[in-house]
Amino acid sequence: MAGNHLADLETIIDDLDSTGRVAHVNSEVDLKHDLAGIAAELEGEPRAVLFHKVAGHEAPVFTGLYWSRPLLAHLLRQDEQELPRYVSGCIQQWQKNPQDPVVVDDGPILQGRSGLSLSDLPVPVHAQKDGGAYFDAGVVIATDPETGVRNASIQRFMVVDDRTLHVNIDAGRHLGLYLEKARKLGKSLFLSINCGVGPGLHFAAATPAEAAPPESDELGIASEFHGAALQLVRGKMTPVELVANAMYAIECEMIPGETGDEGPFAEVTGYYARCEPRPVVRVRAIHARANPVFQTILSGAEVWNSVGLLGEANVLATLKRQIPGVQNVYFTHGGCGFYHAVVSLLQKRAGWGKQAIMATFAAFPPLKMVTVVDDDVNIRDASDVEWAMATRLDAKTGIVTIDQAFGHGLNPGFPDYLGCKVGFDCTRPFPHSYEYDRAAYKSVSLDMVDIGDSPAASIETTELAFNPQTDEQAGSLVAGGSSLTSAAVRVGLANAANEADSSSGPRRVTNDAAGNKTPRILVIYAGKDTDTRSQRQAADLFVELEARLIDYDLSAFERARTEVEFKSILKSFCGQVTHLIVISGGKRGKIRFADQQSVTSAKRLGKLINSLVESSPVQVLLCRSPQQIDEFAGKLSTARSIREAVFFDHQLSSDWVAHLLGGYFMCISSDDRTEVALRNAMPPAFSAEISVWRDGKPFTRLNAV
Ligand SMILES: Cc1cc2nc3c(=O)[nH]c(=O)nc-3n(C[C@H](O)[C@H](O)[C@H](O)COP(=O)(O)O)c2cc1C
Repeated sequence: MAGNHLADLETIIDDLDSTGRVAHVNSEVDLKHDLAGIAAELEGEPRAVLFHKVAGHEAPVFTGLYWSRPLLAHLLRQDEQELPRYVSGCIQQWQKNPQDPVVVDDGPILQGRSGLSLSDLPVPVHAQKDGGAYFDAGVVIATDPETGVRNASIQRFMVVDDRTLHVNIDAGRHLGLYLEKARKLGKSLFLSINCGVGPGLHFAAATPAEAAPPESDELGIASEFHGAALQLVRGKMTPVELVANAMYAIECEMIPGETGDEGPFAEVTGYYARCEPRPVVRVRAIHARANPVFQTILSGAEVWNSVGLLGEANVLATLKRQIPGVQNVYFTHGGCGFYHAVVSLLQKRAGWGKQAIMATFAAFPPLKMVTVVDDDVNIRDASDVEWAMATRLDAKTGIVTIDQAFGHGLNPGFPDYLGCKVGFDCTRPFPHSYEYDRAAYKSVSLDMVDIGDSPAASIETTELAFNPQTDEQAGSLVAGGSSLTSAAVRVGLANAANEADSSSGPRRVTNDAAGNKTPRILVIYAGKDTDTRSQRQAADLFVELEARLIDYDLSAFERARTEVEFKSILKSFCGQVTHLIVISGGKRGKIRFADQQSVTSAKRLGKLINSLVESSPVQVLLCRSPQQIDEFAGKLSTARSIREAVFFDHQLSSDWVAHLLGGYFMCISSDDRTEVALRNAMPPAFSAEISVWRDGKPFTRLNAV
């Protein structure tokens, strides 16, 4: 099959697997609820999931291809920040110079099995109240009954019986238009559902009507992503075309006017779509290629990152043409990926914040909210956007509401596709006055500044406040040094063992293959140290994660990554480890994110951790300077999942390990003595797996058994 690695799902899975981006679920799973339940636990991680053993079926099931932007960025070989621009560039390229698909005589889809019925396919039932099993990742190809122009889209199809599906077609979809045309012509509408394809086709199908008008053959967009013309083959039983290398292809016929109950279905909104009469789809033939993999999508982050990303790309392209000074657009995940757009504007004249609101609504009809901020605000950071709203929005003049506007019918605020939209102009008054200038500190290189560690004595004085046998209250903060007794080690280990036995409580403990619950500790070097070593280690970590968050030179962060990504990576790791150690190089641990002013690691990390622990317990931070300790203490005291935070100097000792394993922790350290100290401090009786990231060799396992 011609084209790059994106042209085929098998190649894609191999590509991801070769870089550790596929979670292989080897346990047998039930298609009804269990599979989606497991997927939901893994949702958003920078890896997709392959379920190898699906009860009653031979074919594996694949999911999660779109649920993480870092994963998608790797797959598309793009920088994550650049994804909307890249996607919009491909669509614009296609608009200028469309490369239509070619119809070939034969392809893998015709060389495998045919004569299948729907029950032969591993179609999952996702959420608990879903009305049945659903296809929701198949790309639908249909042709306009009048003009013959092809259209690609994605719809959800509920399995009703072996040869019947019921489909949901939202208002304004081209498929609905075609069905209506077929009705007027007194004809059936034929279509194919192509399941198990790559992102080129997926994006082609999800491209909004505003970017791909009805007279254009959207499938050409896939050719653009694949770097070669998409190949189609003719159906065997009906006048349809199938994707030549899809995993499964279903030939279908729709008889206009036929309807049946469809739903409920857990939708992208986080609510169930209601069960209602919707169009019936008759299955006329099913083909599977050799060794097929069935693809499914969990409504949520996968849709936010596909429909949302496409919407973002299209809005950005439109705004760039219409609104001078537009820098970027982000469709927030809190806004379900396509109900809330945040627009970054470098103001050139007064009044263009409002112009941007109107243009954004016009460019993507499903939007319910638009927030416009100045270009000094990080549009991917909800706190930063809220800051702009809290300090720059004039609530009397800056809020625009548009009642009775067309929106997205799945949004409960838009019954019958009608509802009220709202725009927030959170830009500063123009021309700018100094009251609205953001406070900023001088950007200083600390390379030439001599910064010493805090004297151990000053920490020792506060350490006495901690008694590991009694001080277990939630949220209390204790500063500690290196002189806790070995009794603390035993207490800590006992706590860890209890912890490991308990399924409740704030910490996560993972099961190993034998079912033993073992503390798993991840060490991240996240700061700038006296030498470049810890930076390198940090860089290696993130390179391994394919996030490249931390560069050798942390000041290069502006060019690199975002805080959102940092959070999501940490979050995904929090699910896999019981303890997380972030090693920051004291005052030098300054982090700059791609779209942000420089921030001190202490402040920002404190904030990050606070937001993280709300959903995933983070167990450990290493901290070293008293100043940082103070800053952290303030930030962390509200962190819900941290029972207690203990601060140490940079020396790791067995008592520190006791706290670590006992689950009371928070510290920052500076160098790789951590690993050695952990190894030495680990009592022989205790089995702990410590993962240390260093020298480009991820997860050196120190098994102290
Ligand atoms: C996973 C996924 C599921 C979707 N489900 C539906 C659906 O059930 N009904 C629908 O009308 N649109 C659905 N969409 C959105 C449309 O496929 C998308 O808006 C597409 O651009 C419509 O194509 P059209 O503009 O050619 O009509 C879904 C999109 C994705 C990514």
